[in-house]
Amino acid sequence: MKILVIGAGGREHALAWKYAQSASCESVFIAPGNAGTAEVGENVALDVTDYAAVAAFVQDQDIDLVVIGPEQPLVDGMADYLVGQHITTLGPSQAAAQLEGSKDFSKAFMDKYKIPTAKYASFHTHELDKALDYVSQHPLPIVVKASGLAAGKGVLICESHGHAKDVVRDMLSGASFGEAGSTVVIEEFLQGIEISIFVLTDGKDYLLLPSAKDYKRIGEGDTGLNTGGMGAVSPVPFANDAFLEQVRTTIVEPTVNGIHAEGLDYKGFIFIGLMVVNGVPQVLEYNVRMGDPETEVVMPRLLGDFAALSLAAAEGRLAGETIEMDPRTCVTVMMVSGGYPGDYQKGIAISGIEQVDGSLVFHAGTKIHNGQLVTNGGRVIAVSSFGDNIEAAVSQSLQNVAHIEFDGRFYRRDIGRDLMNL
Ligand code: AMP
Ligand code: GLY
Repeated sequence: MKILVIGAGGREHALAWKYAQSASCESVFIAPGNAGTAEVGENVALDVTDYAAVAAFVQDQDIDLVVIGPEQPLVDGMADYLVGQHITTLGPSQAAAQLEGSKDFSKAFMDKYKIPTAKYASFHTHELDKALDYVSQHPLPIVVKASGLAAGKGVLICESHGHAKDVVRDMLSGASFGEAGSTVVIEEFLQGIEISIFVLTDGKDYLLLPSAKDYKRIGEGDTGLNTGGMGAVSPVPFANDAFLEQVRTTIVEPTVNGIHAEGLDYKGFIFIGLMVVNGVPQVLEYNVRMGDPETEVVMPRLLGDFAALSLAAAEGRLAGETIEMDPRTCVTVMMVSGGYPGDYQKGIAISGIEQVDGSLVFHAGTKIHNGQLVTNGGRVIAVSSFGDNIEAAVSQSLQNVAHIEFDGRFYRRDIGRDLMNL
């Protein structure tokens, strides 16, 4: 089959890489892709917000499956458009993508289907006074979330009532997150350890993909500003069979059953962010796509024909399918531009990738300019490695990261360290 992957990051490079290796996959196209995806398939210079142009390309090239990587096109209804053109698509409908696009919607969904999550209340623009009263009564710390998509920046953990009130005011007035903040979710702070669960579903049946943990802060020891993700580890050592069974029965099954009961058309990935509080997993959030950089450790651990499984999910045929995983640990270390997640430059020359030995290089933000590989984003390159344990895998990645040079490059050396002695 021929597959078109929509997106341009490390997640899409890892997906395209996995599809390119799948026996059932003849060729992979990536739109728009990056310098790394061009090595595993063919980049297509499509404007991916022009759905008609994407559909025309799919029809011209006889593409069998479109896989939508990022959340924005899903929340904007790209899957609905393609499915309406009779194109087999892996990615939930716009209505189903509200599970990520509206925290107000996803919290109400979790309440309705009794899925464990933090206690909350939500307020709309015209309910500022009620929201401030609610904050006054709330124990500290208080978690305030913009309900809409905010590129991972819409969650604030407030240590004082004054701060929480300022955040609520700025969100509801539209000052801080525009329309995304016009509804706020105020919730209880959960203290625990985070883990991400990935599910492939056709809306009725599902498969659990490998679990992972990502490292969101820019600084070592989980300090400094939040980023898109500075590294990831899979599997997560405490996620043993008993834990995963608990996640399956208390969270994944009620979620998939709820999606089905609501009549939501959901063929795609569900990324469930969990906080494990005293051994009990609770949902922090749903994402309607794979994680980045989690995909850069999840894809390498999948054995078998993932293109065939993705097609089965998109065609509603997941029942009876199984998945096999490499038991080894995979770790990725993300190399980022100087200044990220604040301002950074693009177009800086990258060298040394050819010296990488024994690791996988996934491009997150790169392009070729005048024949030279250059940076083209805050997150630039993810270096993934296998090992018998986290220590071995991370040290392999760090050895190879050392070969890859670009001015101002930065990375964390402590990915997975918090999990080593659990
Ligand atoms: P979200 O986008 O909802 O996953 O939130 C982003 C991050 O904020 C999560 O990965 C957690 O680290 C943190 N977070 C979100 N909600 C809570 C909560 N109720 N308690 C503690 N931390 C939270
Ligand atoms: N790494 C977190 C995310 O993809 O949202």
